Amino acid sequence: MSKSAQGGPPFRDFCLQNKITTRIISYSTISKFSNSYRVYHKTIFMSNHTNKGEEETDRDDFEFLDLTLRPSKWGEYIGQENIKRNLQILLDAAKERNHPPEHLLFYGPPGLGKTTLAHLIAKESNTQMKTTSGPAIERVGDLASILTNLSPGDILFIDEIHRLNKNIEEVLYPAMESRVLDIIIGKGPSARTIQLELPKFTLVGATTRISMLSSPLRSRFSGGVFRLEFYNNDEIIEIIKRSSKILGIQMDDNAAKAIGERSRFTPRTANYLLKRVRDYAQVHKKDLNQKLVEEALELLGVDRMGLNSSDISIIRTIADKFAGGPVGLNTLAASLAEEESTIAEFNEPYLLQIGFIERTPRGRILTHVGYKHLGVESPKKERLF
Ligand code: ADE
Repeated sequence: MSKSAQGGPPFRDFCLQNKITTRIISYSTISKFSNSYRVYHKTIFMSNHTNKGEEETDRDDFEFLDLTLRPSKWGEYIGQENIKRNLQILLDAAKERNHPPEHLLFYGPPGLGKTTLAHLIAKESNTQMKTTSGPAIERVGDLASILTNLSPGDILFIDEIHRLNKNIEEVLYPAMESRVLDIIIGKGPSARTIQLELPKFTLVGATTRISMLSSPLRSRFSGGVFRLEFYNNDEIIEIIKRSSKILGIQMDDNAAKAIGERSRFTPRTANYLLKRVRDYAQVHKKDLNQKLVEEALELLGVDRMGLNSSDISIIRTIADKFAGGPVGLNTLAASLAEEESTIAEFNEPYLLQIGFIERTPRGRILTHVGYKHLGVESPKKERLF
């Protein structure tokens, strides 16, 4: 804590509690009635600032996407061509104006490369990226600590941004729009509003649930809101080949194709399956070919369409317990003893993409193709919705 953090005991306590290390150059009372202070702050000392979000994201990376496989240059990033083209214009223009890029939001199913894009943006802008996540920011003080510890030009990446609570969102609005942080300190008649000036920064948000983001927050991503699409087969195979080269895995085209077909059009899944297949070949001391991929992935419980046991339970439950639907997400989740968010974020996007289920105003229904995959005759229902 800087000795020069002034502003009276409540402010000093707030800074200490929230690890805000802000040098206040001057402060003044704006209005005696509102008891507001404007605090011009200059130097931020980040040193050992960590937060739960960083740890969580790092753990996820190790579980699902080996850092060595993550593209570290634009040229290595396969797919999402339209987003890359738009981002390159945005970044080049910002660089020419010598200004940080405007705030960006990425959304789409997990594992499609939202975090990787954020890393590439930081690299392209030649700045640091600080990472946190919506659920890690529990109190306004957590956000204040993160924002006041940014250096000019930093990228602040907030994963799962839809899980920020409303009070925190409201503090974020002025920070995004005007680079100020309004904090109320204390309660009742002695409450004070403190306004801190923040360094120029770019917020990059990522979410798997865009519909859960409030529209005021969504509208503040002035640089753009980008939806990441599932990858096509060729792109997934290219990613598998790139990853096997990095990991030193020898395999033929048919093996890469067999992994690709079970990868749910998702790079993270493709890399995960590749690593499991490599383990299987190593333990059995066999060559990595199509037959071995099929054996290894069957043992892992991944079927030829890339469905796992939880996807199968979902479609089987819609067929058996709800006569093919429609069934609401909450009823389906209760029946499976599963979290609604898990179904909505992890299972549904792929089941919708391959046309096994459809979303209707009255709930989810299992399609003919879904029935066919289960090997069950589809009931010939009149479609009224
Ligand atoms: N690994 C994970 N995602 C990738 C991508 N989009 N391009 C190349 N390698 C990747």
